[in-house]
Amino acid sequence: GAPVEVDISKMEPGQLIRVEWRGKPVWVVRRNQEILDGLPKHNNQLRDPASEQPQQPEYAQNEYRSIKPEVFVAVGLCTHLGCSPTYLPDSFGEQVQGVSAGFFCPCHGSKFDMAGRVFQGVPAPLNLVIPPYYYVNDATILVG
Ligand code: FES
Repeated sequence: GAPVEVDISKMEPGQLIRVEWRGKPVWVVRRNQEILDGLPKHNNQLRDPASEQPQQPEYAQNEYRSIKPEVFVAVGLCTHLGCSPTYLPDSFGEQVQGVSAGFFCPCHGSKFDMAGRVFQGVPAPLNLVIPPYYYVNDATILVG
């Protein structure tokens, strides 16, 4: 499949853009400082907080899981059986304490935070997959 260009220049904090790459949904999410500051707060509730799992780009092997912390890019498919999780920009808090936003998989209840890191105690075994991508310039990402 051809690489997919995403214009990120007009994204608002919390906004998610969906594109399709190789038949899969890819999400691009703009994170602000508040979201980034929230990430470490629930590290102890995650399976792989530092994202050390193999088979992912080097730039995903950290807490933010992205090239630039403020822009998160991930394949939008649950790592359990491949349903597409729902983006909950501000309403996870009731279910998982300390987490104000993330992704919820309606199929079997897996939960991922704003870096696509999977919570403990859910069926999904791994953090969300980070696709290959790079910055063409400050305003444009190329996925693929
Ligand atoms: Fe997402 Fe099973 S496919 S929890």
